[in-house]
Amino acid sequence: MSLPSRISLEGRVAIVTGSSRGIGRTIAKELALRGAAVVVNYHKSATAADEVVTEIRSAGGLAQALQADVSDFKAAQGLIKFAIDTFEGLDILVNNAGITRDKLIMMMTEEDWDVVQATNLKSTFNCSKPAVRYMMRKRYGRIINITSVAGQMGNPGQTNYSASKAGQIGFTKALAREIGSRKITVNAIAAGYVETDIWAGVPEEAREAILSMIPLERKGETQEIADAVAFLASEQASYITGQVIGIDGGMTMM
Ligand SMILES: NC(=O)c1ccc[n+]([C@@H]2O[C@H](COP(=O)([O-])OP(=O)(O)OC[C@H]3O[C@@H](n4cnc5c(N)ncnc54)[C@H](OP(=O)(O)O)[C@@H]3O)[C@@H](O)[C@H]2O)c1
Repeated sequence: MSLPSRISLEGRVAIVTGSSRGIGRTIAKELALRGAAVVVNYHKSATAADEVVTEIRSAGGLAQALQADVSDFKAAQGLIKFAIDTFEGLDILVNNAGITRDKLIMMMTEEDWDVVQATNLKSTFNCSKPAVRYMMRKRYGRIINITSVAGQMGNPGQTNYSASKAGQIGFTKALAREIGSRKITVNAIAAGYVETDIWAGVPEEAREAILSMIPLERKGETQEIADAVAFLASEQASYITGQVIGIDGGMTMM
């Protein structure tokens, strides 16, 4: 499935954090297909990130990979600077990088808590702050945060993850109010169950329990998230800000 061709990102510059694998990988490819020059950010998967860049270039697009741990403020600043220096601008920031460290609270360590907040939530601040600095001057920008139904409904075994994802939603709304006057939109996508590496180790029982809550009776595809990101990143979405778009097969219906 692909969006109508009139959704064009020609001439735009995008960063997708954590786009070596999973949802971010498909988002990076979709934005590039629509004409954006894309910075493919990764943390550990250098080979996978290089593959994404090669695929984009083979399809005639523009892309560069950059290693940066977005939980680190300085590294995130470097990522934003890299995009601006390499592609002479920045229009679209997709805060997608994320991890889980699932445990019941009695087993959860302080480190399990801290690393999830840093990777999922602090990263959103770390990348948005320097991006907004540039976008405010340009009076244009699109920030799209990839959050989760877990941040809306809560999930047992995921107090750390659910809190980080709920935090991204509050961040999205506050920032949208702060910078709307500069024509920068800030939205979140609350994804449901999309089969990626993040699900490795989740027991079959838990997967079935989640599937049974989905009215459309199936998992989502990474492409279904990427299509929505491409739309929110486009000119056509200029009157949408501060919203949380659920792409979850109807699991939440907020
Ligand atoms: N899959 C789902 O069902 C689902 C549902 C709701 C929300 N989400 C959200 O969607 C986003 C993507 O998840 P996914 O399912 O695609 O997971 P994934 O397949 O495990 O991919 C995670 C990506 O994040 C990157 N990453 C992790 N830590 C990073 C760091 N410190 N700095 C930079 N990049 C980092 C990884 O890069 P490296 O491999 O290079 O380390 C990888 O590219 C996450 O925010 C997740 O919470 C997923």
